Amino acid sequence: MAKEAAAAKAASNEYVTLTDHSTGESYDMPLMPGSVGPKVIDVRPLYSQTGHFTYDPGFTSTGACESKLTYIDGEAGILMHRGYSIEDLAEHSDFMEVCYLLLEGELPTAAEKAEFEDTITHHTMIHEQLQYLYRGFRRDAHPMAIMVGVVGALSAFYHDSTDIADPVQRMIASHRLVAKMPTIAAMAYKFSTGQPFIYPRNDLKYAENFLYMMFAVPCEEYKVDPILARAMDRIFILHADHEQNASTSTVRTAGSSGANPFACIAAGISSLWGPAHGGANEAVLAMLNEIGSPDRVAECVERAKDKDDPFRLMGFGHRVYKNYDPRAKVLQSSAYEVLNSLGVHDDPLLKIAMELERIALEDDYFVERKLFPNVDFYSGIILKAMGFPTSMFTVLFALARTVGWIAQWKEMIEDPSQKITRPRQLYTGPTSREYVPVDKRG
Ligand code: CMC
Repeated sequence: MAKEAAAAKAASNEYVTLTDHSTGESYDMPLMPGSVGPKVIDVRPLYSQTGHFTYDPGFTSTGACESKLTYIDGEAGILMHRGYSIEDLAEHSDFMEVCYLLLEGELPTAAEKAEFEDTITHHTMIHEQLQYLYRGFRRDAHPMAIMVGVVGALSAFYHDSTDIADPVQRMIASHRLVAKMPTIAAMAYKFSTGQPFIYPRNDLKYAENFLYMMFAVPCEEYKVDPILARAMDRIFILHADHEQNASTSTVRTAGSSGANPFACIAAGISSLWGPAHGGANEAVLAMLNEIGSPDRVAECVERAKDKDDPFRLMGFGHRVYKNYDPRAKVLQSSAYEVLNSLGVHDDPLLKIAMELERIALEDDYFVERKLFPNVDFYSGIILKAMGFPTSMFTVLFALARTVGWIAQWKEMIEDPSQKITRPRQLYTGPTSREYVPVDKRG
């Protein structure tokens, strides 16, 4: 039995027994408890003892790591970061504090918070030469394509924070990534519009600064609306981390080989881009526009239920939540706040979204499968009202998730049981066959 598994078994003193009925042999697999949530069966000794692998495409039943960062109870609709509920953080905290919490493990004292904000503020500029990288893209490039390229390229500019074995460099890279993402994201937008890049300002808070870099132009004064800055900050909090989702697992997998943090985050951005993951916020808005009016909602729900139609209700369903996504609840109330403050009292898209939610939540198909609105369902409506083009929605998700990715990456590097990620497979291809020269192939 592997050393760690033996230790786990001894520690928990609980195990499950697997029986191979073809041989009559039984094997004890240790059960490992977490601080809360389901125990895991430690299958590390499985192959050496039985000669078999487990099979779990999509990792529906697999715990791939140990983590102290984020806990989700999908049945109850609970999300906590380091023990603090997402509702409390969204209401009482701010994004900088949540970043500190994820990176350092505790909420900061006032002095620690001030120091952390100062550090982040003083890392917001990017190397001037990176401008030329932007200028190499087509103007109509998707900003996510630019993000993947520019964030990956940071590793070519910040050599002094790529030694993953050095904890100081790991922390500097983490601060740099959190600090520079708003600048990089805003520059991707500015490039697409043809407007000049706007440099960060040290007198502005994180979310304010981002809105400023997005929407200011050099020829006139731009005042950031405090209600929008607060809504932006809350959106960042709600997207900060989410356990071992596809992009986070991608970051961990990339990092498990020893790749530098900038390359790992670029890999995470690529994974986030897909419509089943972070790309869903963009897809929700496209769907609401396509539906066009509340009286066409029922027809669209019918399409989503039709197995011969690839159409799915974007912003609905989640691998882990089998209840209302708690982030969607916070965003729903934020949507009203933002629209009211902007004087939008009759947003047609919000009307369609509410009708869609109402019909879907009453429909047997969605009820039986426990398909509820997820975080992406309302975020697009708020972001659109704030003036963001849909192509920037997933970029904002990436910006906010960077702290989660990097905190997970750091946790992995600092975990002594960390190994390169190397899953196995069930091979179903041809068995051994003889090579036939090309002139003899029929
Ligand atoms: N519309 C219609 N049917 C759905 C939907 C949906 N949005 N989501 C799941 N289903 C059905 C699915 O067809 C399946 O039905 P059946 O059991 O009859 O075959 C059942 O519900 C279970 O779905 P699944 O695809 O096996 O579940 P999954 O855990 O593999 O996928 C998901 C989860 C989020 C990819 C999926 O629900 C989905 O595609 N949703 C729409 C895209 C979306 O909103 N993604 C954002 C997720 S939250 C933020 C993030 O992760 O970035």
